[in-house]
Amino acid sequence: MTPTPLLIGGKRGSKLARQSPATSKSCADTPRVLLSVADNPSSDLPVKTPELWKPANRQETELLDKLDSKRLPHHVAIIMDGNGRWAERRHLPRVAGHQRGVKAAREIIEACARLELPCLTLYAFSRENWTRPQAEVDFLMRLLREYLKRELPTIHKNNIRLSIIGRESDLPDAVRKDLDRATQLTSTNTGMNLVVALNYGARAEIVDAFNAMLQKARANGQAEFRANEEEIASHLYTAGLPDPDLLIRTSGEMRVSNFLLWQIAYAEIYVTETLWPDFSRTRLLEALLDYQKRERRYGGLTATRSPGERSSHGNRSAAAKG
Ligand code: FPP
Repeated sequence: MTPTPLLIGGKRGSKLARQSPATSKSCADTPRVLLSVADNPSSDLPVKTPELWKPANRQETELLDKLDSKRLPHHVAIIMDGNGRWAERRHLPRVAGHQRGVKAAREIIEACARLELPCLTLYAFSRENWTRPQAEVDFLMRLLREYLKRELPTIHKNNIRLSIIGRESDLPDAVRKDLDRATQLTSTNTGMNLVVALNYGARAEIVDAFNAMLQKARANGQAEFRANEEEIASHLYTAGLPDPDLLIRTSGEMRVSNFLLWQIAYAEIYVTETLWPDFSRTRLLEALLDYQKRERRYGGLTATRSPGERSSHGNRSAAAKG
């Protein structure tokens, strides 16, 4: 099957967009992306012309040509791993790896927004990460606040909706305040959902969902409580978002590390040896192409849905599962 060419900066699959991306309109509710240039993080110049989004190299051009814009995942979730090893290999302190990790995150957020993926989730801080040395934890919190301060205007300008999943109440007050401001500011944006998992643990999320359901049942005076899949999904932190179609993990570990355990039931898993600070736009395209080669059967015998296809409320219906 010939892939539908991918047109950066314009509507997927539209020739007009390829010829004149600067004037073409993207999806009705997703304005054309105006992000700053990845290679120049200090610049917050909006990208107004296609020249600023030329493929970085021949490899990227070839990958983009192969990518089918009609079969992109609706939700990509990423376990960003390997910052520490990246730094250690360069005889640098671990925090230098985190600093470069932020740069990689920025590049991937921009790339996903340009690809018009509806949702990107980044695992930034797990509940287990509190056990790291206090200085590293403090550094990560500071880094997050700096990231928000620097990037929020660009995120908002590009119609990206930022949300947080995890037990936010346990985060330091200053971090919570910044996060509240950022999520409120972008709450009515209609472009890509950028979900950052902070103080996140999937088991804790499921516990929170059950407690919320039980509380509701008690408040309604229900003598008996029975949950079903849809009800559970609607009480998770990710309620309303599509389940991830693709889970990427960097740095080679074959684990899911308590990340979105419920939601990744049918996700395709892509593990790369690349350490997170080296995970570039090119590496992302490779992951997306690998995903497009997979046959998704949901337990049945044939691929009955194309990747990314969703039921109307975002989560797959039980009937679709094998
Ligand atoms: C794993 O590296 C990464 C983390 C603990 C998360 C930190 C993520 C960033 C700094 C990216 C920033 C993201 C946003 C949204 C601003 P590791 O320390 O576990 O690496 P190692 O396994 O090699 O030690």
